[in-house]
Amino acid sequence: MRFTIAIDGPAAAGKGTISKAVAQHFGFAHLDTGLLYRAVGAQMLAGVPPVEAAQTLQADALDAAKLRSADVAQAASKVAAIPEVRAALVDFQRAFASRAGGAVLDGRDIGTVICPEAEAKLFVTATPEVRATRRHLELTAAGSSTDYATVLADVKERDARDMNRADAPLRPAADAVVLDTSQLSIAQAIAQAIAAISSKQQR
Ligand code: C5P
Repeated sequence: MRFTIAIDGPAAAGKGTISKAVAQHFGFAHLDTGLLYRAVGAQMLAGVPPVEAAQTLQADALDAAKLRSADVAQAASKVAAIPEVRAALVDFQRAFASRAGGAVLDGRDIGTVICPEAEAKLFVTATPEVRATRRHLELTAAGSSTDYATVLADVKERDARDMNRADAPLRPAADAVVLDTSQLSIAQAIAQAIAAISSKQQR
């Protein structure tokens, strides 16, 4: 059985948490496509030209724990604006999406560019302030001393770059269900996501 769930949205809206829970609920495989761009961004910071890094990306470079820093996030959104970088990562994402047994992909352009034929599409969003608060808590828990104002400025800068780039800008697909998690608990957001996807499965 092939069934693709596309989950897009801006940074720290809850995509990752929702995607993992949705994948577990349906028994599907999950790909956090942001890791691909983060891995290329990290290599750029290490001096590798980004297009070359994207074209030679290896699975062992996708170590989430090493790619979570704010510097890598900003580098990721810079390399993500380079069309040749995006092009080099398309085949891997599409192959993952069409695997037997079902797949959940989360990112920025899954429902619009990578998998426009996905059976279910969600656009997970929240206000910049709520997203910055969540990211700030995460960073503080991980031992970072970055202040809230810096995190909010980072979130807004990355949003602007992701939404205004020419190639595959961040926006909801016309047929995506928009889920605003600003006022929702994690459990509520997951329940609403599962309900929206289940309604597509039954058609
Ligand atoms: O989701 P995450 O914050 O890990 O993504 C890091 C950056 O990678 C984003 O800010 C965005 O610029 C880029 N990205 C993208 N397309 C995707 C996933 C991530 O452009 N499908």
